[in-house]
Amino acid sequence: MYGIGSPVKPVEAHNLEKSFGQVRAVRGVSLHVDRGEIFGLLGPNGAGKTTTIRMITGIISPDRGRVYIMGYDVLKDPLKAKSHVGVVPEISAPYVDLSAWDNLMLAGRIYHVEDHMRRARAKDLLKMLNLSEAMSRKVKGFSKGMRQRLLLAMALISDPGILILDEPTSGLDIISTRMVRSLITDLRREGKSIFLTTHNIEEAGILCDRIAVINKGRIVAEGSPEDLRINFEEFRSVKIILDRDLKGIEEALGSFDVLIQGRKIFITCRRDEVDEVLRRTMKLAEDLGARVEEVQTTGPSFEEIFMKLIRGKER
Ligand SMILES: Nc1ncnc2c1ncn2[C@@H]1O[C@H](COP(=O)(O)OP(=O)(O)OP(=O)(O)O)[C@@H](O)[C@H]1O
Ligand SMILES: [Mg+2]
Repeated sequence: MYGIGSPVKPVEAHNLEKSFGQVRAVRGVSLHVDRGEIFGLLGPNGAGKTTTIRMITGIISPDRGRVYIMGYDVLKDPLKAKSHVGVVPEISAPYVDLSAWDNLMLAGRIYHVEDHMRRARAKDLLKMLNLSEAMSRKVKGFSKGMRQRLLLAMALISDPGILILDEPTSGLDIISTRMVRSLITDLRREGKSIFLTTHNIEEAGILCDRIAVINKGRIVAEGSPEDLRINFEEFRSVKIILDRDLKGIEEALGSFDVLIQGRKIFITCRRDEVDEVLRRTMKLAEDLGARVEEVQTTGPSFEEIFMKLIRGKER
C-alpha cells in the first residue's frame, strides 16, 4: 500500500515478467496510468501487449513483478482491485443467443449493479454506442463492429473508473472505429482512466495522452505523442521520385534507412546527412541513366519513428 500523501495511481505495474516455455513474452515491463488519461501500449504483433494486459487484469500471474489497481495488489486483493475496472479482452464475445439488452443485464448482475441503475446505464450506453435500435435483437446477427461496441457497453455497465481495452478498434471499419474512439475520449472527459493497447500507430498518436512503445517484451520508449516526435527532431525523411524503377539502389544506399516503392525512394536520416543522401542518390540515378523528378524533405512521420524505435536504431 501507499504512504500518506502519495497519490494513488489507477494502474501501476512494476517489473512484470512472463515466459511461456522458452518464449519470454514480457521482460521487465513497468508502466502506470494516471488519472483521467488515455494511456496506450503500442507495439507490433507478438510484442507482449496482451500478456501485459492479462497480468494487469489478474487473468494470469506474472513470473515476477507486481500490479496495483487503485493501490490494491491485483493478486492479493483481487476483488477490491477488480471492482474499479472494466475490461474488454482481446478475444471475448457476448452471448450470441441473448439480445444486446440481456447481455447488458447479465453483465450488470455479474458486477452487482443494482437493478434500476443497471437499466438506466444500459439505456445510456446503448444510445452512446448507437445500438438502441438493435437492443432487442439476438447478438447472433450482429456485425463485428456491433459486437465490439456491445462488449464496451458491458465493460462500462458498472461505471468503473478505469477501463482496460485490448485492441479496441482492431478489425473494425471506419464508422465503428470512430464511434469507439469518440466514446473513449468522452470517457476521459468524464474523468475516467483508460489503458488500451494498439498496433495502430496513427491511433496511438491521435487518441493517447501518453504512449509506451513495446517490442519483444520490453518498453523501448515512453512519452506523449509529441515527446516521441521531439526525440526524433534531428531525423528527416527524404522522398525522391525517379522517372523509372531502379534495381540495386537499396544496396547502394545501405548505410541509410531506405525503403523503395517502385520509382519512389524513402530515406530516413539525420538532418546533417540530408545533403549527403541527396548527392549520393542523384549520382546513382545519373550513373544508371535515370532522372530525378521530385525531391521532398519532411520531418519523420509517426510511422517512421515507430519503425526506428522497434528496430532499435533510434540513436
Ligand atoms: N498462452 C501462451 N502460450 C504460449 N505462448 C504465448 C502465450 N501467450 C502469448 N504467448 C507468446 O508470447 C508472445 C507475446 O504475445 P502477446 O499475445 O502478448 O503479444 P501481443 O503484443 O498481444 O500481439 P498481437 O498484436 O498479435 O495481439 C508471443 O510470442 C506469443 O506467441
Ligand atoms: Mg494481443
